[in-house]
Amino acid sequence: MSEPELPVLPSVAGRVVHVVGARPNFIKAAPVLAAIDALGIPQRLVHTGQHYDVRMSDVFFSDLALPAPDVSLGVGSGSHAAQTAVLLARLEPVLAPADPAERPALVIVYGDVNSTLAAALVCAKERVPFAHVEAGLRSFDDSMPEELNRRLVDQVADLCFLTSPEARDHLVREGIDPARCHFVGNPMIDTLLAHRARFDPAPLRARYGLGGEYAVATLHRPANVDTPDAAARLVGALRTLAARLPVLLPLHPRGRAMLTAAGLDTIPGIEIVEPLGYIDFLSLVSGARVVVTDSGGIQEETTILGIPCLTLRPNTERPITISHGTNRLATPEGLAPLLDAALRGELARPGDGPPLWDGHAGERIAAIVRDVLAARAAR
Ligand code: UD1
Ligand code: UDP
Repeated sequence: MSEPELPVLPSVAGRVVHVVGARPNFIKAAPVLAAIDALGIPQRLVHTGQHYDVRMSDVFFSDLALPAPDVSLGVGSGSHAAQTAVLLARLEPVLAPADPAERPALVIVYGDVNSTLAAALVCAKERVPFAHVEAGLRSFDDSMPEELNRRLVDQVADLCFLTSPEARDHLVREGIDPARCHFVGNPMIDTLLAHRARFDPAPLRARYGLGGEYAVATLHRPANVDTPDAAARLVGALRTLAARLPVLLPLHPRGRAMLTAAGLDTIPGIEIVEPLGYIDFLSLVSGARVVVTDSGGIQEETTILGIPCLTLRPNTERPITISHGTNRLATPEGLAPLLDAALRGELARPGDGPPLWDGHAGERIAAIVRDVLAARAAR
């Protein structure tokens, strides 16, 4: 039997290799890629293909002028085990070629998705140094797949880049050497600030017939959309919201079937649309009266935009968006009073926002990467 022909992979020898796979990864990687490029450090971009629809992937590459991936692994969807297994098998030859001279100088992984965990595991097992951007966030809720991914990735990361000061305490408590931890600010906010001048709600209002005040909603967490009971509670919450304001819901593909079965389409005053591109989505959010979500990134973005955010979750790994921002946690049944408080203007940001969310996280990461590579070369 003949061996299947393996694709020829571009060389990653001595380069910084970024691994991205899902929507929020693209947004976090953009400023880091740009800042490392500005220092003239050679790099490669690997797209695992965990997200693959044009509206979940390609649109971010065009909106954010990301370079086309050097390697696309086409992993696709599956159960956690099936998806992670394919990720591991396809990432290993890219991140850890058998010839040591062909190996990357450093791999960078982002956030808390399955692509992040798989890349971390390949690097750790094969002793390829890697950095984790957005390390140390904790919801302390192990029923979230992301919480397991975060903890496991941080345990084996060589460099931890922190977006929030409390992350250092979490990491140190888990036995991670503080010398590996660098508080750099938030690259997702770098992207937001870099593109803020492009956010304009007017064309979105016109497209969706939103004359006056409106709300934006997004939902995709497994705990909210994967079971009929949870979906029914969520649909109840959206009914509460739509009774107060017209709602635009760009729906993540994960929840469509379950939420539809729970009656999502029958709520008056809610418009359900396909996931939006980055500029369209943040244009819509920047004109909204309130956002109702279970997203991680949107809690952060609304904090900087000063838009009240009600997060339909029992916990958050981003408590700084509550203490320094516009975010509040809500249950579906307890949404109404919080919504009314938001509409009365009671969820204003208390101050300037979280420390170092200033648009320069990518540059701080790039400077540390440069210094680490230089120190290694000097040894
Ligand atoms: C993943 C991340 C989650 C993150 C989210 C961002 C994990 C464990 N979860 O969740 O942390 O918040 O991305 O959006 O990594 N699908 C499509 N088209 C796509 C991609 C997915 O239709 O382009 C559908 C498929 O039916 C798939 C389902 O969405 O089974 C879930 O996709 P998956 O990437 O496994 O997880 P997400 O829920 O997107
Ligand atoms: N987002 C987008 N279009 C949408 C919904 C979200 O561009 O229709 C952006 C959003 O602004 C944020 C990111 O996607 O930057 C968050 O992704 P998601 O909520 O899927 O993942 P999480 O942050 O929860 O991991």
